[in-house]
Amino acid sequence: MSNDGANMTSSQLMEMEDKYGAHNYHPLPVVLCKGEGVYVWDVEGKRYFDFLSAYSAVNQGHCHPAIISALSEQAKTLTLTSRAFYNDQLGPYEKYMTEYFNYDKVLPINSGVEAVETALKLCRKWAYVKKGVAEGKAKIIFAGGNFHGRTLAVISASQDPDSTTGFGPYMPGFEIIDYNDLDALDKALDDPNIAGFIVEPIQGEAGVMVPDDGYLAGAKKLCEKHNALFIADEVQTGIARTGKLLATCGNCSCEVSCQHKPEVKPDILVLGKALSGGVFPVSAVLANDEIMLCIKPGEHGSTFGGNPLACAVAIAALEVVKNEGLAERAEAMGIIFRNRMQAIVDKSSKVNLVRGKGLLNAIVINDLETSKTAWNICVAMKDNGLIAKPTHGNIIRFAPPLVITEEQLHECCDIIEKTILEYDS
Ligand SMILES: Cc1ncc(COP(=O)(O)O)c(C=O)c1O
Repeated sequence: MSNDGANMTSSQLMEMEDKYGAHNYHPLPVVLCKGEGVYVWDVEGKRYFDFLSAYSAVNQGHCHPAIISALSEQAKTLTLTSRAFYNDQLGPYEKYMTEYFNYDKVLPINSGVEAVETALKLCRKWAYVKKGVAEGKAKIIFAGGNFHGRTLAVISASQDPDSTTGFGPYMPGFEIIDYNDLDALDKALDDPNIAGFIVEPIQGEAGVMVPDDGYLAGAKKLCEKHNALFIADEVQTGIARTGKLLATCGNCSCEVSCQHKPEVKPDILVLGKALSGGVFPVSAVLANDEIMLCIKPGEHGSTFGGNPLACAVAIAALEVVKNEGLAERAEAMGIIFRNRMQAIVDKSSKVNLVRGKGLLNAIVINDLETSKTAWNICVAMKDNGLIAKPTHGNIIRFAPPLVITEEQLHECCDIIEKTILEYDS
């Protein structure tokens, strides 16, 4: 067997991963070797529509030429200095980011979960420095059904046994309340040691759970009332995915993005994934000075955070979002997609409902969470040229790159419909 994957078949490559890689994932049986826009290809040359977009990281489409060009130009010049020194890309990136999202400051970091951890640390620090909570007593409220990543801190607030079992002891100082429940939040915030509330505006991993209208605005108001920080984890929902620049944005009339008129302005905003268009791990935490400056030199950081390559890539990725009107496209395509899925719900006994916003959507399969039905439908869709993945046993999430055209979207809906109706018969 060669080592570089060239001339190897899908089954050889899957066998290799199985033999030499840790078994912490259960991928769909497809081995991809190339991507462009909404398409990916397997090693045998078959083309698929990508309806996962690397869990919403590839919003701008695979290998977007403007992002790849920024990557390769910067890679030839300077990739990493660490924050021991200044670099010529970081300042311009920080200025660009804070103007784009309308905050005083940004703290650059790498993966989504690192950004969440950063937000949690920042929130605790603010509670001690500004709110006057006694050292070691700060608590943060999480919403039930959350997914914020895989580190020990965030799994300590998870209710998913797969994420938590066998990984204790867990981090203290976290409290979990029901998602979409403002009364529970009001009650929990009564505790004077509460530093903040962290929430996903739509819970992606939980199965694209969309809260009631007014939930986020209500939650922010309650946080204000109790002097606690409202933290939005927009790692999956952010950067145009849900039809607005952010899922916390309101219905403003901005031409290209709605960042200046948020429905809810989070005190701390957490971004990742599509911040680089899926090209490179880039994440960020944004906040105003009152909060961000609670962290002082030496108190938090990362060797790779704010590296010149990431800065150049992220600016290019955000330019694509703006210049190509991806939020507006996601909004328009999302309406078409949900209408098409509703037509399937109406005629198939296998699908119970469709829900979502923009191009973050899911269908709920009429079967038990422990069933294999959603998995089997995903395997059949793959055979028909579209790849998606179940989230939980009976929910299939659909999140294509936002550059998808209306014609491509209809072709994809035809594939989904054909597959489900075949499965139904
Ligand atoms: C809402 C949310 N937060 C955080 C994360 C973690 O991001 P990463 O996998 O880049 O660490 C994810 C990943 O899916 C996510 O959906």
